[in-house]
Amino acid sequence: MTDSAKEPAQQVAAAHEAFEREFERFAPFCGSVSANNLTLKQAEHIARELTELRARHTGKKSAIASCKKLVGRVAAEERASFGHLVQQTEAGMVQSLDEAEHALKHFIETARVERESIDVTLPGRRPRPGHLHPITLMRQRIEDIFVSLGYAVEDDREIETDFYNFDALNIPEGHPARDPQDTFYTTDAFALRSQTSTVQIHAMQRRGAPVRMIAPGRVFRRDTPDPTHNPMFYQVEGLCVDRGITMAHLKGTLAEFVQRLFGPETKTRFRPSYFPFTEPSAEVDYSCFSCSGPGCRICKWSGWIELGGSGMVHPNVLRAANVDSEEFTGFAFGLGIDRTCARIYQLDDIRLLFENDVRFLEQFR
Ligand code: DAH
Repeated sequence: MTDSAKEPAQQVAAAHEAFEREFERFAPFCGSVSANNLTLKQAEHIARELTELRARHTGKKSAIASCKKLVGRVAAEERASFGHLVQQTEAGMVQSLDEAEHALKHFIETARVERESIDVTLPGRRPRPGHLHPITLMRQRIEDIFVSLGYAVEDDREIETDFYNFDALNIPEGHPARDPQDTFYTTDAFALRSQTSTVQIHAMQRRGAPVRMIAPGRVFRRDTPDPTHNPMFYQVEGLCVDRGITMAHLKGTLAEFVQRLFGPETKTRFRPSYFPFTEPSAEVDYSCFSCSGPGCRICKWSGWIELGGSGMVHPNVLRAANVDSEEFTGFAFGLGIDRTCARIYQLDDIRLLFENDVRFLEQFR
């Protein structure tokens, strides 16, 4: 080799060496990549680095590209062999790159297919459809009956002023009836309602008279939880105000209600009682849906089950809601939804209804 070709040949050798040095770490990927224990992510990263390496060592601005430009400057008799050297060197580099790239691509494709494949023999994921809470089911049954009797369903606030929870219901400050309904006070002026009777006032203020409505909802009392008490529970209030409403309408309505709920054989019984917002007042019982009379565990051997309180709306209550108590009379009642629910499903502990244990709730679809 004459001197005119010596230096360019060294440049080719240097370019080749530089490539080999950098390619060294990719060499193991020529052949089988899966043997290298790569993850898909790692393989993708290495493939990107390999592309960069290719650009650096075989691209337009690479050392070998500069060598090609030297071919014209080499002495004429050396030109052919120098050209051949450059070509061979470049071809060798490209081949190494191709091999590694091919193997990596193959590995990546296989890994992707594997990742996306589905094992059709695996058991399917069964959808778990939800269902309504037993209290909701009970509430809906009650609503359906009263709606069919021409009652509107009112949904009202759970946070109340003393006026709606007590004063307007004929329970002035200092009245002993406030004590058993001690509730949760948020500020001086607001409290969680202790009874759905509050909705009687709201409904009459909104609709005036005549009015026929029921109001199911949550109420709150300062009670210590035990099998028959919970500081939060559900009631349904009922109110019917019109001209000429009498106690007979009250009795007929509740008798119809329990017969639709528990069967046509169901009887009702009214016991005199006291509520500040009704006069006269009565406690309502219905004959046991399980034994129909002789007594059993469900009715605690009495043959009767308590439904709730009721009575003729006190004139003071009508007046508090701006309804003319000379022209209108009405009856009202209040029933416990969860209590009825617990009775029907024979629950020993009312708190089961509020613990949200699906193993319990799933039994009431
Ligand atoms: N509000 C009463 C309570 O929570 C239940 C009640 C009794 C409602 C008699 C009424 C009624 O509308 O007339 O104990």
